[in-house]
Amino acid sequence: RLPPPSPAALLAWYDRHRRRLPWRAAPGERADPYHVFLSEIMLQQTTVVTVGPYYADFLARWPDVGALAGARLEEVLSRWAGLGYYARARNLHACARAVVERHGGRFPQEEAALLALPGVGPYTAAAIAAIAFDRRAAPVDGNWERVVARLFALEETLPKAKARLKALALTLLPQARFGDFAQAMMDLGATICTPRKPACALCPWRKNCAAHAGGTPERYPLKAAK
Ligand code: ADE
Repeated sequence: RLPPPSPAALLAWYDRHRRRLPWRAAPGERADPYHVFLSEIMLQQTTVVTVGPYYADFLARWPDVGALAGARLEEVLSRWAGLGYYARARNLHACARAVVERHGGRFPQEEAALLALPGVGPYTAAAIAAIAFDRRAAPVDGNWERVVARLFALEETLPKAKARLKALALTLLPQARFGDFAQAMMDLGATICTPRKPACALCPWRKNCAAHAGGTPERYPLKAAK
């Protein structure tokens, strides 16, 4: 039996190895909820590298949620061109309007209130709650799923395993620093616990990882046969 993965070990790793990304706050500071919202919507189905210039352009054109709410949808869509999945751009605009109309231009802090906004699903609600407001929340994306499936050597297959992965993810959460923890999981998944050839030698949780102990971490997460 392996010792359980400690959140403190991951947070210490993050303090040394965090990626500098345009939407991230300086260490020890909270990110602006609008920045988190904009980046998280763009990052769904799009890579960090592709998102960079679009994020900068949107922020320059619409520096806050009130400005975006006042934009014409046509301009939002035309500046979105190239990112794909245009429903995201429509939702972005609708959500900005709802934040202004329902919440006076300030994002709500509760995961449940965020989830009630148009175009905000469970992932985005948890991401904003954790990263912008340091609320206890687990924005479980593909990176989280891979890390958790490996830590526990979960034999259940995706997509069925999603509920179980979310429940296991919640057991990993620290007592504080929820935003840093969320982004640490994303960075670990993106840079160490990668889909192929994971760099286990550099992983802060290598001694706590059932998949690593079993010798074939890249087997996880298991996927249902097509
Ligand atoms: N992918 C989605 N959200 C992210 C974030 N906040 N940091 C890094 N990668 C991400």
